[in-house]
Parts: sequence; C-alpha cells; structure tokens
Amino acid sequence: MAKGKSSGGLQAPRGTRDFYPEDMRRRNWLFGQFRETAHAFGFEEVDAPIVEHLDLFRRKAGEEILDQLYHFELHDRELALRAEMTPSIARMVIARQGAMRFPIRWFTVTQNWRYERMTRGRRREHYQWNMDIWGEPGVEAEAELLSAMFTAFDGLGLARGKVGVRLNSRALLEESLRRGVLADRPEVFEPLCVVIDKIDKIGAQAVTDLLCDPNGGVKLSAGEAERVIEMLSARSLDDAARFTSDDSGALTDLRKLYDLLDAYGIADHIPFDASVVRGLAYYTGVVFEAFDTGGVLRAIAGGGRYDRLAETLGGKPVPAVGFGFGDAVIAELLQDEGIWPDPPRDVQDIVYAFGAEEKPAAIGVATRLRRQGRNVELCLGQSKLKRILGDADKVGAERVFLIGSDELARGIVKVRDLAEKKEHEEPLGG
Ligand code: HAM
Repeated sequence: MAKGKSSGGLQAPRGTRDFYPEDMRRRNWLFGQFRETAHAFGFEEVDAPIVEHLDLFRRKAGEEILDQLYHFELHDRELALRAEMTPSIARMVIARQGAMRFPIRWFTVTQNWRYERMTRGRRREHYQWNMDIWGEPGVEAEAELLSAMFTAFDGLGLARGKVGVRLNSRALLEESLRRGVLADRPEVFEPLCVVIDKIDKIGAQAVTDLLCDPNGGVKLSAGEAERVIEMLSARSLDDAARFTSDDSGALTDLRKLYDLLDAYGIADHIPFDASVVRGLAYYTGVVFEAFDTGGVLRAIAGGGRYDRLAETLGGKPVPAVGFGFGDAVIAELLQDEGIWPDPPRDVQDIVYAFGAEEKPAAIGVATRLRRQGRNVELCLGQSKLKRILGDADKVGAERVFLIGSDELARGIVKVRDLAEKKEHEEPLGG
C-alpha cells in the first residue's frame, strides 16, 4: 500500500500543522475574535462536512483551486476535502431555499485543504472565517461585511492604517465587454476573470496572450484584450468611469457603496483598484481583498458578490456576498507587529494532597470547586510541593489548596492566594 514520498507517518504532512496547547490557546483567541465580531453583526454560525461530493466543486473556468483539491475515490464515490466553504454554504442554502427567510447572515470558522505551492502564510491546510449574506442584492450587504472586517482588525489590535482593502467590481468589466465578446459568448466571462487574476504573477503580456489565444477558452480580439488591460489600471471611480457608459449600474453601485463606507468611517482604508478581480470564477460584482499596508504579505482576506452561484449549482437564483479571512496570513502580520498574544492557561485553582491518605479529601475539594464553576487542576501522583507551586505560578493560577494529615485531622484545607501571597483556612466542605 505504502508508496511515493512518505516519512513513515511520524511527521505531519508537509504544509499542515499540529496545534500544541500553546498554539491552540492562540488559535482559540483568534477564532474568539472572529466569532465575537460575527455575533456583533448579528450573524449565526453554521457548519458542514469537510468531505463533499467532488461534483460540488467542479467548475469549468480553469481556476487554480480545482487543481489543488484533495480528492479521492471511496466505494465508487468521488469525494473531496473542501478547499473553501462557499460551495458548501450554497448547498445548504439551496437545500432549504423555499423555507428560508432572506436575507440570511451566516458565518463559519472551518478548516480548508488546498494542495498549494507553499510560501509565507500559504499552507496546505488553513482555517478560514467566512461571513456571508444571502438574499440581499444591494451594496448595503457589502458595506456591512467590510465594516465587520475592520471591526475584526480593531479587535485583533491592528492600528488603523496597518491594513487596507482593495476593492473593485467585476460588473464594470462585464458591462464594458457586453457589447463585444460577451454579446455572443457570455460564458467567457468567468474564464476571462480567472486569467486576469494572474496578472501580478505572470505580467500583462502573458495575460494578453492567454486572452487572445485562438485555442484558449476566452479568445478576445487584440483590441478587446488591450481595453481590458487598460481598464485594470484605473485607481479611482472617475478613472474607471472612462471605460463605462453614463448609465453604468456597476458604477452607480460603487458610488453608493463608497457613501455607505464613508458612513461606517472606513472609506479611507478601502482604495478602489480595478486590478483586483479575484481568482474564483463565481464572483459577479463587487470584489475585494484585504492587504497589509507594509506590502509584505499575501492577501489577508478576500471576498465579493456571487449572485449566480446558487443557480449554477442547480438552485433558484439568490444574490449572495461574503468573504473568507484566513488564519495564517493574519498570524504572520500579528507576529510581525509584535501583537500576537500568548494567552495564559485558564487554570484557576490547584488542589494538592501531601499523601495518599488525603487524596479522597482533595478529590472532594476539587469537585466542590468545579461545581462552583472554577477551573481546577487536581494534582495526580506524588509531585513535590515546590514543583507544584512553581507550576501554579507559570499557569497563572490564583489559588493553591493544600491538604496534609494535620488539615485532614482538623477537617480543613489551607488556601494559598498566590497574588496576595497570603494563606487562610477553610472547612473541607467549603
Ligand atoms: P480565497 O481568496 O481563496 O477566497 O481565500 C480567502 C482567504 O483565505 C485568503 O485571503 C487567505 O487569507 C486564506 N487562504 C486561502 N488559501 C490559503 C492557503 N492555502 N493558506 C493560507 N491561507 C489561505 C475564498 O476561499 C472564498 N470562498 C471567500 C468567500 C466567501 N467569498 C465569498 N464568500
């Protein structure tokens, strides 16, 4: 059975992580920030299986994410580990579409798998916080989501100005091409966006070549390709207006969105940037990506409007918009900024018996304290008191309960308050 590259099973697969207790404390802190923000915006948490039918992910636009799928066959079924949450969420919405009261606001914090070429902040498994609004066609939804993202940045301790969001609308591009190539071949739009997304990586000329390739999936004329590349250079709405008609719906939406973002007090941190199109095929309208203003890291988060996904998957049309915010890039940024916290263990009380005789009484004290809602570590075995007290300091415990033969005989327990450095006695039963 064993073949290919293997480390004998003792190492975690490349690009994956083990979470030891100290890592887990940080992860819980980060996810706590995500959850707190989502709740503050009235979102409800959902979840779905990490294994889905491969068919859920099959799309034809040539996206990188599909080449990165962890997929396998089991009992004649083709299955895959999810690479992102959005298709699963769409599946869940479609399953209850008739009974849903839209708009719905859902969030998830889940693990995703992508067989990536690894770079800083890019892994083969990562967690993503997703926030999605289904059933709201207006840009009020985009504005809420972007405000939630900035609220999370604030909660994480990132000063305003350390992070920004670049924003564009695919609808601008679509409008501009509607009279040309998209008039006869609307299906070309998705692969076109997927190709354009590569521009940072492969450059404008290579993108032009792909767009015009007579054997490719897009087949633009040289003039159309040139116009597309030119459009990508727009860095303001007025600049972008040069490429659309006066009655452009996409531009009207963007202007409205920026007014809303202004009301939230975040417009200054969200530059318009026509080169942001995103690499996932399903986006249809506003798209955005969060970045560190130092320009060192890859995208911290990304999202956009995907009004046609439900329909593509066989459901009734429902507008939708959302974002995914990974755990890996933000961790790098918080580390660089020196604000990645090291949360303490949350043991409050430690209960110690000097000998085997006092163990039952110690169990009684630990049980009583736990019932009171305290987090209690009961010392096992026969560790030396000195070591227990040293550990108590390290884990940040507040009190140590000590029971020896003398205490047992008197029916009391000694309580040492570690912060106050004081000791008092309590009856064993509290
Ligand atoms: P995405 O841009 O592929 O979008 O991923 C969103 C975020 O997840 C990225 O900005 C990054 O923080 C993180 N991420 C993605 N891949 C990796 C990786 N290999 N290693 C570490 N972090 C990674 C989506 O997945 C969309 N489904 C987001 C969305 C939700 N759009 C609408 N709703």
